[in-house]
Amino acid sequence: MKNNDVLVRIENLVKYFPIRKGFIKKSVDYVKAVDDVSFTIHRGETLGLVGESGCGKTTVGRTVIRLYEPTSGKIILDGEDITNLSTSQLMPYRKRMQMIFQDPYASLNPRLTVGDIVKEALDIHEIGTPAMREEKVHQLLDEVGLNPDHASRYPHEFSGGQRQRIGIARSLAVEPEFIVCDEPISALDVSIQAQVVNMLEDLQESYGLTYLFIAHDLSMVRHISDRTGVMYLGKFVELAESDEIYLHPQHPYTKALLSSIPVPDPKTSRTMKRIMLEGDVPSPLNPPSGCRFRTRCQYAMDICTVEDPEFKEVQPGHWCACHLYD
Ligand SMILES: Nc1ncnc2c1ncn2[C@@H]1O[C@H](COP(=O)(O)OP(=O)(O)OP(=O)(O)O)[C@@H](O)[C@H]1O
Ligand code: SF4
Ligand SMILES: [Mg+2]
Repeated sequence: MKNNDVLVRIENLVKYFPIRKGFIKKSVDYVKAVDDVSFTIHRGETLGLVGESGCGKTTVGRTVIRLYEPTSGKIILDGEDITNLSTSQLMPYRKRMQMIFQDPYASLNPRLTVGDIVKEALDIHEIGTPAMREEKVHQLLDEVGLNPDHASRYPHEFSGGQRQRIGIARSLAVEPEFIVCDEPISALDVSIQAQVVNMLEDLQESYGLTYLFIAHDLSMVRHISDRTGVMYLGKFVELAESDEIYLHPQHPYTKALLSSIPVPDPKTSRTMKRIMLEGDVPSPLNPPSGCRFRTRCQYAMDICTVEDPEFKEVQPGHWCACHLYD
């Protein structure tokens, strides 16, 4: 459960990817993947992160744990500013922050055995004796519901769900405090998604883990996340307790996202007002001026074209970036 102890503090994080254009490759454009994002994650908390494809969720996750170099802003882990640490200075922090990847097929080296994959970080950080590392691998495989005897097999011998379990065992090996779970169940069969989510919840409980849990839609993260942030085109547009955001969304984009979730009960779906999200997401190379959502927002006003709305607390604990709340 969450408490007031902040483990991760992100301040005005920006991540631009340079794109070189032309033959001489002199002129440079930037994909503004993450553009001034601030949030905190409490120790033991799960913060959900949702938004359409390409809005910058993975980039946030990777930059927060310094797999990507931030363009600007601050990353503070447990009170320590790790934004500008060199590779060697980062080493002790690398153990504390891990990632579970979206694609369990692409994220495991096919040439390594499962045991070597899980053990790799222990070897890099020289944790324990070789015998202790072997023992740890067996214990971890058991913990994620795999047969420890499978340590000598290769990833291709496993199903998607099993591969994701291998990825989870790998992330746990160095006993991290904070794990970025990047759509860990999106690529899995619906029938096994719940098993993997339950396992992540059990592991969180056992080890007091803190999660940033990335997903496409709000219904998926509602139950696993204490709070949820909604991203649109590189920015946070809303952040609140997950139930609050689900039941009382404030931002026009969140409302549209929620109303586009299929409702299983035919009675409800007939009475529910559906707000359709029209048009494509604009390019992060050249985002709209002012509010980035204005090209698709049914409430857009003159000010929305010229002024970027401030991300502010509109009710206690409920943050929103929209001129409707000025
Ligand atoms: N390494 C990179 N180089 C250039 N552009 C990138 C790079 N990685 C991501 N981008 C761009 O940054 C934007 C944000 O991408 P990101 O992968 O963070 O989105 P996402 O929300 O995780 O999407 P999805 O739901 O599809 O996983 C996209 O426009 C993407 O094309
Ligand atoms: S700031 Fe304006 S365009 Fe943006 S979400 Fe609010 S009303 Fe819509
Ligand atoms: Mg992604």
